[in-house]
Amino acid sequence: MLRWMMASVALLALSGCPGFGDKTLAELEGIGGDVTYHADIRPIIEARCFPCHTDPAKFGAPNPLANYEQAAAFANRMDIRVVQEGTMPPGGGVLDEEKALISAWVQAGAPEGTALDMGPPDLGPDMAPDPEPDMGPEVDMDPEAPDMAPPPPPTWDDDVQPVMDASCAFPGCHGGAMPQSNLDLTTYAGFLAGGFGGDLTGDGDPARSGLVDRLRARDGLPLMPQGGPPLDEPVIEMIEAWIAAGAPEN
Ligand code: HEC
Repeated sequence: MLRWMMASVALLALSGCPGFGDKTLAELEGIGGDVTYHADIRPIIEARCFPCHTDPAKFGAPNPLANYEQAAAFANRMDIRVVQEGTMPPGGGVLDEEKALISAWVQAGAPEGTALDMGPPDLGPDMAPDPEPDMGPEVDMDPEAPDMAPPPPPTWDDDVQPVMDASCAFPGCHGGAMPQSNLDLTTYAGFLAGGFGGDLTGDGDPARSGLVDRLRARDGLPLMPQGGPPLDEPVIEMIEAWIAAGAPEN
């Protein structure tokens, strides 16, 4: 596989893809159905497209790519966004070999291949997503294009305050003249001030945030909102992402 992969990369470079005349890349390479979702594409998606295109999708991604059906439905868009435009993932970082594999897979009609039951995905050091996306020179970053920028983190003003208003910041709870635990969640300043329990930000660590402690009823602490039900999981994850981003106001 390595040999044709190198050839594919060379071909991509030479042809200034996309488009190889009337022939598909697969035909040119004579690799037929060699490239499959399970053997080749799934590991790339795990390394490059998670944690956003999980099911449910996160951080603004509209579509999950978490199984064969979902990936196959977006195969053409993957080729366009990742290989042709280079606008996915937002931070770049997809290797040329991986782009060649995605192209070959899409041209071959997005074959599924055989699922190897190997238990939970092992993101070895090679395939683990970069904590800081590699903005290498092969990615044509155009600062003008709005969808090239990594999605901005959630903010208090746009994302968190509406949740607080809807679920926490009522008179008699964490609003009004005498908020519970002296914690006023009607304003950003009130959140920063914390209540009798002190700081809620966890210094940017969702695992130590007193706010998340309560939303997840961790460590035996009573659930908030009091009496339940808990906030929806994607909402809690948004708040965790906000805490992790340093709890920005706007
Ligand atoms: C950091 C989060 C993130 C990562 C990682 C990421 N995406 Fe996305 N993706 C988004 C967001 C946000 C959108 C919606 C905005 C847009 O379309 O640019 C999106 C949209 C898409 C779409 C649908 C829009 C369209 O053009 O049809 C596809 C397909 C896609 N991404 C493919 C991928 C693939 C394939 C990867 C991995 C190689 C990937 N993305 C990695 C965040 C991400």
